Amino acid sequence: MIGALLLATADPGSSHWLGVAARDVPPLAQVINQKSFNVLRTVSPPSTANGTSQFIPPGATKESLLAKPFHIYDDAFYDIIGPNPTLTLLNRTESNPRFHEAPVWYPATDEVFFCQNAGARAAGTGLNKSAAIMKIALADVTTEISSQRSANGTIRVEFVNPSPGVVNCNGGTNYRNRILLVGEGQGYTVAPAIYLMHPYSPYNTTVLLDNFFGRQFNSINDASVNPRNGDIYFTDPTYGYVQDFRPAPGLQKQVWRFNESTGAVGVVADGFNMPNGLAFSPNGQHIYIADTGTAQGFFGNNYTFPATVYRYDVEDDGTFANRKVFAFVTAGVPDGIHLDTKGNVYVACGDGVEVYSPAGKLLGRIYIGSTSANFQFAGKGRMVILAETELYYATLGAEGAFPGQLH
Ligand SMILES: *[C@@H]1O[C@H](CO)[C@@H](O)[C@H](O)[C@H]1NC(C)=O
Ligand SMILES: *[C@@H]1O[C@H](CO)[C@@H](O)[C@H](O)[C@H]1NC(C)=O
Ligand SMILES: *[C@@H]1O[C@H](CO)[C@@H](O)[C@H](O)[C@H]1NC(C)=O
Ligand SMILES: *[C@@H]1O[C@H](CO)[C@@H](O)[C@H](O)[C@H]1NC(C)=O
Ligand SMILES: *[C@@H]1O[C@H](CO)[C@@H](O)[C@H](O)[C@H]1NC(C)=O
Ligand SMILES: *[C@@H]1O[C@H](CO)[C@@H](O)[C@H](O)[C@H]1NC(C)=O
Ligand SMILES: *[C@@H]1O[C@H](CO)[C@@H](O)[C@H](O)[C@H]1NC(C)=O
Repeated sequence: MIGALLLATADPGSSHWLGVAARDVPPLAQVINQKSFNVLRTVSPPSTANGTSQFIPPGATKESLLAKPFHIYDDAFYDIIGPNPTLTLLNRTESNPRFHEAPVWYPATDEVFFCQNAGARAAGTGLNKSAAIMKIALADVTTEISSQRSANGTIRVEFVNPSPGVVNCNGGTNYRNRILLVGEGQGYTVAPAIYLMHPYSPYNTTVLLDNFFGRQFNSINDASVNPRNGDIYFTDPTYGYVQDFRPAPGLQKQVWRFNESTGAVGVVADGFNMPNGLAFSPNGQHIYIADTGTAQGFFGNNYTFPATVYRYDVEDDGTFANRKVFAFVTAGVPDGIHLDTKGNVYVACGDGVEVYSPAGKLLGRIYIGSTSANFQFAGKGRMVILAETELYYATLGAEGAFPGQLH
């Protein structure tokens, strides 16, 4: 109703026209009116405005976008962020992309685990750094810290040294009360694998899977647990190859399922360019799978390839049906995906975390101004965001969904 009132009274051509209701906007939030830039008159060519560039709406600056980083595109985002969302920089490195992937919250200790960037040549990391797994204790993040925008270095980022090591770790999830991590492998000899890590010192690991009938996977990227059958579903693109640390691929780029109890391994979906992050809906009826095909490693970016999230129905028998295009992200490529308890879909991408309704409408974003490969809810109202050289902590209204994982 408020929307109708605005439509009736405001001039759609004016920059004051609000596409969403003018409720009390939280201090760190701002309304972004998408209609205000439907017509730009001078629209830059693809050599300037593309999936790698950062779009700054007219009238805004990068500083103004960062100053109030919760960007509201739809009324529904008010409930998602709550009355007073916060975003705090916890740690920043000079250049080493330490805050990359595999964020897993372990509720029993209230710690969040994550890993270093998996050795892209440009990242300047070697195998040892790539295998680095770290953790932070959320108990350290006091409200005094989370009320600040920058609290660089105030909490400890602790290295855990899993043994045997998780080589080129790139994804993770809670699994049977432990931490499941996937590794992309290294060279010809270290096969990509699924690892299970003990969540307490000495962080001993067990390898659950490292081949398909004797064949190496390409570079296992991420994993998620189907809440209805407990199987581990995982993606296997060819980033190890196009980032120069794995041989030419020996398998199609596809999505797999693995039943740890029976040992059964099989494919559930193909037709992807670079299948990446994946997440089940809270009720387990759907799965969302990111395709980062635009990013082709040493082949560069190809903007005719996907930067797209697909959604499938998940059948009772654990197979997929009805593939549909769910969202094409507005910046960069969609990487990590997680849902809240209401079924809203959060996607890490080129300028932070974008939030979509279950109908695929952009509701808002948590703006970082640079690429986030992944993030994770830590229960209700808390989120940790990994942005390569930066580690962020957010508080908001939404509660993360962990279907089938937290038991
Ligand atoms: C995409 O845009 C960026 C930033 O404007 C530019 O540096 C880059 O060259 C563009 N890429 C292509 C393939 O044109
Ligand atoms: C955070 O700390 C890093 C490492 O000491 C430093 O390079 C960076 O400038 C600091 N950033 C801020 C915003 O204080
Ligand atoms: C990795 O670390 C091991 C043990 O510290 C060392 O022997 C090896 O040379 C290192 N490898 C690289 C590539 O830095
Ligand atoms: C960031 O965390 C690392 C690892 O704990 C630490 O060495 C570094 O000092 C932290 N950065 C700052 C600015 O304190
Ligand atoms: C780690 O070691 C403990 C104690 O021996 C064992 O109970 C646990 O299963 C191990 N965890 C993994 C993931 O291997
Ligand atoms: C594995 O397969 C068995 C037999 O089909 C099934 O009962 C079970 O739910 C599946 N998943 C797990 C994690 O055991
Ligand atoms: C992008 O991919 C298409 C299809 O393979 C190919 O024809 C085109 O040359 C590629 N463009 C670039 C810039 O690599």
